[in-house]
Amino acid sequence: MFEPLENADTTVAALLFLVYWFIGYRIGQLANLSPLDAQRSARRILAWIRVGFGLFVLRLASIGWLWTYGWDFAENRVWVSLPLVTLPLVAVVIWSMPRLRRIVGGSDVDRLDPKLVVPAQVMAVGGLLTVWVGFVSRPVPPHFDDLLTHGGPLVLVTALLWLRQFRRKAVTRSMRARVLTAVAGFVAIIGLITGSIIYGLSASRLPDHMSMMDHNLVDYGGGLPTSHSARTSVDTLTGPRDLAPDKTFTVTAEAAKIQLSSGRTLDGWTYNGGTPGPEIRVKEGDLVEIKLINKLPDVNVTLHWHGLDVPNAEDGVAGLTQDAVPNGGSHTYRFRAEQVGSFWYHTHQASSEAVVKGLFGSLIVEPRDKPAVEDIAVMSHVWHVGDEQVSAFGTKDTLERKRIKPGTPVLIRLTNTGVNPADDIISTQFVLSGTPFRVTAIDGTPVNGPTELHDTLMELANGGRYDLSFTMPDGPVRLADLNAPDAGLLLEPNDGGPVPALPEEPPAFDPLSYGTPTTTKINAGTNFDRRFKLIMDDGLNFHDGVFGLLPMINGTQFPDTPTLMVRENEVIQTTLINRSHEVHPMHLHGHHALVLSRNGVPSTGSPWWTDTLDVRPGEIFEIAFVADNPGVWMDHCHNLEHARNGMVMHLAYEGVTSPYHVGHKSGNQPE
Ligand code: C2O
Ligand code: CU
Repeated sequence: MFEPLENADTTVAALLFLVYWFIGYRIGQLANLSPLDAQRSARRILAWIRVGFGLFVLRLASIGWLWTYGWDFAENRVWVSLPLVTLPLVAVVIWSMPRLRRIVGGSDVDRLDPKLVVPAQVMAVGGLLTVWVGFVSRPVPPHFDDLLTHGGPLVLVTALLWLRQFRRKAVTRSMRARVLTAVAGFVAIIGLITGSIIYGLSASRLPDHMSMMDHNLVDYGGGLPTSHSARTSVDTLTGPRDLAPDKTFTVTAEAAKIQLSSGRTLDGWTYNGGTPGPEIRVKEGDLVEIKLINKLPDVNVTLHWHGLDVPNAEDGVAGLTQDAVPNGGSHTYRFRAEQVGSFWYHTHQASSEAVVKGLFGSLIVEPRDKPAVEDIAVMSHVWHVGDEQVSAFGTKDTLERKRIKPGTPVLIRLTNTGVNPADDIISTQFVLSGTPFRVTAIDGTPVNGPTELHDTLMELANGGRYDLSFTMPDGPVRLADLNAPDAGLLLEPNDGGPVPALPEEPPAFDPLSYGTPTTTKINAGTNFDRRFKLIMDDGLNFHDGVFGLLPMINGTQFPDTPTLMVRENEVIQTTLINRSHEVHPMHLHGHHALVLSRNGVPSTGSPWWTDTLDVRPGEIFEIAFVADNPGVWMDHCHNLEHARNGMVMHLAYEGVTSPYHVGHKSGNQPE
């Protein structure tokens, strides 16, 4: 509901602008009419002003409704938009309306009086500025600068209109002159818009070279300022380097033709010739060494261990923790697999293109004494085949059948590696049917006391993971991605039975209340050292040569986004507020965060630890984490398109610096 409401509010703002623009025009024309015509026109104008009032009241209602989602969703409308239209409206009421009534009553009124004419025109400008607020500028608190950027233009335009009206004489212009002015005005506006777009596209281009340490905006979250004086380079924050590894892997990035099970083919990028890449499966506590070799012509690559909180230097972020590996180069990663669970790896170089093309694979850390289960990793991906977006499990975009003996314990490790195709409002939706099951882990962290679920809709963030556990029943079990319901995975006790139907409108799984509570090292009552507030918006904007409705964090885009500064061992609280029109799967590297509440409702189930959290439009999440992994970390939206379009920030520990550079000529482009 939030998203249509948000759109309705901006639509009413646009209508308010149009109606007052029309009124302003008609009031301006009064002076050119005969007294009788003016009388008639004034009556109609008064009627239109009443329509305008109606719209204003509607606007108050929509803002009030937005407020019910939380003050954060209404505050910029209240502080910035309302004054822009309320003040001129007051002037309309106390100056214009009495004069209009006198004209209607036949009295002699100076129809060139600025007090009669200008308020409605200013109201139109104010209305336009509120459309700007809703659609383009999306102001965030504190609003001092908005006084200048939004109030300033209104004051200036008022002065100009007043001056113009003050010096104006009554004239009757010929039709031809009026058409000419209108055409000239139209051409000027189109020219201005085209000019600003061309300028914006080139001016928004990111620099060729830029240090990730150039923090334009530093956020201390209300805690003590930190300094960079200690100067530890991220390069020193490595995994164990001198011990012999327990497991070694070699992963080679190379181009390959990818064939989906339907027969569709595409030119992809792979690790070791296939995609998903080789499954990296290790045991808890293993010292893992992975050598990355790049054989992709003209494409740089890295390996990032999504969800595994490795030391900073092993995190694989191009331009932040390493230089991306060029063609012919290699890079060796080493870390101890300390968390047990389901993770995945992918390149963190030009990821919005490269991950989509196939540079990812699954990373599984098994417990030392692993129970005997049928362990199935499912990587749900969206392939771009020409203009078509194809949802698949790995490369299977048709139904895959797998035979499993009844009574076998099954663990499905479901990972969402794709960027949603059709509808960005919802995360990817999966349904597991045919058996009761439990969600035994979320984002690689076990759920405490998971309860049994039946026919449940599983919404999974891009980058997120669910472990689904059950005992194979006597009948078939079906896992489907609702974007491609005919594909999916069918587990069956015998070969070739009919495909069971999917449940209609299954209830949605909600991690906020799922499982059993237990004590955690931090909770809502913790004394937090810092509190960060991240407001996500979207507006018509430019970023690095792209123009469109682009995402913003606290009114900014990378590299102007805030860098969250912390000290080691501090406890941090973060509030994520989504005022935009799309879901944002927010992913903080190097840490797992505990969800404290959603929309003010505290978490009541198992502690919900997450590394990739879907924040939907109209939602507010409070999360907390312990700053226990020093470094400079990526914190970004895992809709990789959004990351590409500037939805990226950093979490930086006091004293840690990165020697690497990003930018078009640096070879490093993490997003
Ligand atoms: Cu899955 Cu910053 O990444
Ligand atoms: Cu996003």
